[in-house]
Amino acid sequence: MSRKNPAVSDWVRPEIRALSAYQVPDARGLIKLDAMENPYTWPEELRQAWLKRLHDVDVNRYPDPRAAALKRRLRVNMSIPSSAEIILGNGSDELIQMIAMTLSRPGQVLLSVEPGFVMYRMIAVFTGMRYEAVALKGEDFSLDTPALLAAIERHRPAVVFLAYPNNPSGNLFDEADLIQVTEAAPGLVVVDEAYAPFTEATLMPRVGQFGNLLVMRTVSKMGLAGLRLGLLAGPTAWMAEIEKTRLPYNINTLTQLSAEFALSHNEVFDEQTRAIREAREALFGRLAGLSGVTAFPSAANFILLRLAEGRAAPVHASLKSAGVLVKNLHGAHPLLRDCLRVTVGTPDENEAFIAALTDATE
Ligand SMILES: Cc1ncc(COP(=O)(O)O)c(C=O)c1O
Repeated sequence: MSRKNPAVSDWVRPEIRALSAYQVPDARGLIKLDAMENPYTWPEELRQAWLKRLHDVDVNRYPDPRAAALKRRLRVNMSIPSSAEIILGNGSDELIQMIAMTLSRPGQVLLSVEPGFVMYRMIAVFTGMRYEAVALKGEDFSLDTPALLAAIERHRPAVVFLAYPNNPSGNLFDEADLIQVTEAAPGLVVVDEAYAPFTEATLMPRVGQFGNLLVMRTVSKMGLAGLRLGLLAGPTAWMAEIEKTRLPYNINTLTQLSAEFALSHNEVFDEQTRAIREAREALFGRLAGLSGVTAFPSAANFILLRLAEGRAAPVHASLKSAGVLVKNLHGAHPLLRDCLRVTVGTPDENEAFIAALTDATE
């Protein structure tokens, strides 16, 4: 006897049905400047030494659930205060989810700014939190601090997420404003430092000075995106609770070993991120010289640019047919009208991008 198929619409939460899945475009054959990756691979000797280490791994056993060796290495490399506790995530995306799962209750608010990192909103929806956002200032994407403080007062958010530098605008907020927000917030404040390798600015030394400040990092942007490893640092009382939502063995053995190995050869990645910072300045200079293009200053490994009205989609398509993939942000938020975001690549990739952009905007 055939059983009636249950209707998806009867069972899937309406807010999940209303979401669009996170889209990752096919980049095969294209210069990939859409996802803030480090364009550089590893020198051959480093690869060989890594493969030797991998050879000795026994994958029949579960990973070290505490990832103790990796945490020790991260503590040193990221100058994490000794008083701070660490939690690792399968990418920092997973840490955002763990924080939200820890705090979610009907009506609880996750507050952020927009335009901002889209996963804050998506994860609020996944976990049943109410998402609220305060618009950044239109002219330079700086924080509208009075509006943010008023939203904190009104919504009493369980958590405020602020990316520092911000994605997709690339700018740093004023540190004094972040501190003011931390002092005003009734719950947690998470400063998301995904782009820390490309700036000297950081609130990491201030973890522990405020009972509610957490700093989040990732190894993705420094050149280890494929390993999926994020890190949260904060006061023990909060971290002990968030840790309970971590799935056992969330950081697999190959990631633990590979990240620890890579981070113990930090000089390679420091050199790569130094080159990216230098290339960012060169790229910014080239963009500033193009008519019909406004580039926004960036402290990250990408640059947001605004084109003439109505040009984002045609220029995006034209770049793609010239073999360069960037992100079209037009339509994602009113403040991103006519905007594209380009990741800083190698000097050759950036040249190819500039040439294609020049053709597309002439
Ligand atoms: C601000 C911000 N936070 C977090 C992430 C996610 O990083 P991960 O690769 O560690 O999940 C990104 C990725 O683009 C980001 O832009």
